[in-house]
Amino acid sequence: MIQPAKSNPIPQSTDLERHILPDKSLHPAFWSHLELDLDIRRGQGLNRNSVISQPLSPTLVSRNGKEAINFGANDYLGLTWHPEVRQAAFESSLLVQKFGSGASPLVTGQTLEHARLVQSIADFEETESAIVFSSGFAANVGTVASLATKDDIIFSDILNHASLIDGCRLSRAQLFIYPHCDMAVLRELVREHRHCGRFAFVATNSVFSMGGDLAPLVEINTLCDEFDMQCILDEAHATGVYGENGRGLVEHASVSSERIVSIGTLSKAVGCVGGFVSGPSLLIEWLTNHARSWIYSTALPIPIVAAACKAITLVRNMGSERRELASKAIELRSRLTGLGFEVGSGGSPIVPIYINDTKKVMELSERLLEMGVFVPAIRPPTVPKNRSLLRVSLSIEHSTDEINRLVEVIAREG
Ligand SMILES: Cc1ncc(COP(=O)(O)O)c(C=O)c1O
Repeated sequence: MIQPAKSNPIPQSTDLERHILPDKSLHPAFWSHLELDLDIRRGQGLNRNSVISQPLSPTLVSRNGKEAINFGANDYLGLTWHPEVRQAAFESSLLVQKFGSGASPLVTGQTLEHARLVQSIADFEETESAIVFSSGFAANVGTVASLATKDDIIFSDILNHASLIDGCRLSRAQLFIYPHCDMAVLRELVREHRHCGRFAFVATNSVFSMGGDLAPLVEINTLCDEFDMQCILDEAHATGVYGENGRGLVEHASVSSERIVSIGTLSKAVGCVGGFVSGPSLLIEWLTNHARSWIYSTALPIPIVAAACKAITLVRNMGSERRELASKAIELRSRLTGLGFEVGSGGSPIVPIYINDTKKVMELSERLLEMGVFVPAIRPPTVPKNRSLLRVSLSIEHSTDEINRLVEVIAREG
């Protein structure tokens, strides 16, 4: 029988010091380097702390015991709470009687449930095949680092997600960073340097995770055609949100092209965990042989795979929810713009409220929490210097009253 969860005692700092911190006298320079770095961060208001966020309902969270409306999740379609998704996880764990997969995919980690998920993703994306990684991060790193080599060249948007950046670095390809979505500079860089690489890639997010804006995919695709390049497209925040069937920016912008390597995640609109690449069998077979974050990492637990499989089938049919989400986002942007805030444009459920000052954004987020509204403050290095922002993430689960409350407290405190 499943017992109700007991809360674990939170370790006190004295326990941590006693059990975790080694004898500083053994490695004085190393430990004081760590201490100094953290001191500097604290001094600049840039220190990060992991806070317990206990879910209370699809839109309510308890942060450090304080109950608030949650505008800080990527659960755009509310699927993390969906009864059929939870049921799929529960049933598979009863059926297979096993939770973890127990091995990496090429050993014994690939079960029938994993094969079913691969097929569901390929069906959803309308591609020949797919491959599932343990996270979106692992999918990005493994894909970029295996497709590009030191003989190749990558043009990468300056605001790309850390996992694309790390993939680029690991690949050892020659790297050119272009200003955010700046097609003129990108074209110039490509014109000047394309000949330096055997193969060339443009790496970009489709929806940028902090600004919620979209990559100019049609133009990038045209440029790739013109200069014989591939586009590596991270659809993490677009899967399930954009396109009539939820296939992301590729579907939304009607760009179907052999030039694009499309990477998605199961952790945001799909409400589970895991990352994937979908595409022709040739690409998937290549990744099966070369993507180290897939080959050398344990396959996802079976109930999670079953839940993701259910969620993917639900996502496809959530066209009306996608439209509702976009109109909520457009309306919120227009209300905030009316109040004088800079919020970007478009229908993405990621609505940034630019405050541009690290200290102010932290204080504002704290004040909103006090008033029962949680909106995370995003600071450098996640965003560029002087571009700190409050990141509002909308979900179809947010009620009109909850969004009204958000606008009301921001109008009062912002
Ligand atoms: C644009 C983007 N790509 C990739 C990832 C990584 O995805 P996951 O959380 O599934 O590892 C994230 C997560 O924050 C993201 O925002």
